[in-house]
Amino acid sequence: MQKRRFTKSIVALGAMTLGLVLTPAVQAQQAPFKIGFILPMTGQSASTGRQIEAAARLYMAQNGTTVAGRKIEVIFKDDGGVADATRRTAQELVVNDKVDVLAGFGLTPLALATAPIATQSKTPMVVTAAATSIITEQSPYIVRTSFTLPQVTLGIAEWAAKNKIKKAMTMVADYGPGIDAERTFKDRFQLNGGTIVGEIRSPLRSPDFAPFLQRVSDTKPEALFVFLPSGQGAAFMKQFGERGLDKSGIRLIATGDVTDDDQLNDMGDVALGVVTSHHYSASHPSALNKKFVAAFEAANKGMRPNFMGVAGYDGMRVIYKALEATKGAGGGDALLAAMKGQLFESPRGQILIDGQSRDIVQDVYIRKVERVNGQLYNMEFDVQKAVKDPGKAK
Ligand code: DHB
Repeated sequence: MQKRRFTKSIVALGAMTLGLVLTPAVQAQQAPFKIGFILPMTGQSASTGRQIEAAARLYMAQNGTTVAGRKIEVIFKDDGGVADATRRTAQELVVNDKVDVLAGFGLTPLALATAPIATQSKTPMVVTAAATSIITEQSPYIVRTSFTLPQVTLGIAEWAAKNKIKKAMTMVADYGPGIDAERTFKDRFQLNGGTIVGEIRSPLRSPDFAPFLQRVSDTKPEALFVFLPSGQGAAFMKQFGERGLDKSGIRLIATGDVTDDDQLNDMGDVALGVVTSHHYSASHPSALNKKFVAAFEAANKGMRPNFMGVAGYDGMRVIYKALEATKGAGGGDALLAAMKGQLFESPRGQILIDGQSRDIVQDVYIRKVERVNGQLYNMEFDVQKAVKDPGKAK
């Protein structure tokens, strides 16, 4: 009896102590920390969603689901690549689910549609895909772990000029990143003495490359520079090959979006020898990347990580470390401050989230498609170190 009363009072004392300790801040720390990914899981950019979700889940499997005492909860939403759906979903995630961070954004218009919501709600918005230069300027709450088209286009423009290509034609998807790529290629190629003999813009939605490839065939440039968003590369390559353009003496050069690791292995011989510049190749020869690719492939049968996947993986790293830096407290402004300036080794190489622009600074590689052990890979053979987005210099 005596003993039981004693136990009871101990329990009561414990509860009282707990009551004292459970200040609102601590209670908030007990609540899960929510990350709302909005991605195209269906439609023509579905591979972007599939890659980023797989990589984010891999990051969690490797790094645990509790950070500074907070349980991490990820929510994945499909916007089908349609901006109205992205905007509506972002609103719901902020208002109803009370997410701490928004992430994803598979295409430029989807990121642009969400920027005002990030600003109004002071929610950090981690862009792990969309790559038009101006995106990070649309909200002070945007941080980017993907890339920008001006950043990755400079390399191939330099390479072309150095490799005796004098006359080039450009073909880009007709929207933000394509316009960025076209302008950057043209400016740098002309600066180095080259001439642009034709410019083509193909529609973003359901493009038919046949009429454009006819123009290329008629114009006969020494090289054709191409940018198309992730997911369109295989269809383009197929048509390029079907028209015999790969044997016409017209050299195909591109950003790495075209020789996308998600599709490259299925492209066949037409892709062999294509030179591109980009920030990530699954064949990047670092120890960290080898580990990343092996773990990604083991967790996702039949899939190889591409540049979208690696940006999703690094996006999670940026969020985890920011939460850690705030000791689990979170909060839009504190998280943002802790995201700025993060410098770390990614599977792609060393990357920095620039403290001022909140954009990514990274190495850009020049690569050539080769067959290695029966598989097609973008083999890196040159590098530009620590490239900042040149689109913002203007
Ligand atoms: C964008 C989308 C892509 O799939 C890509 O490879 C590059 C840019 C974009 O819409 O910003």
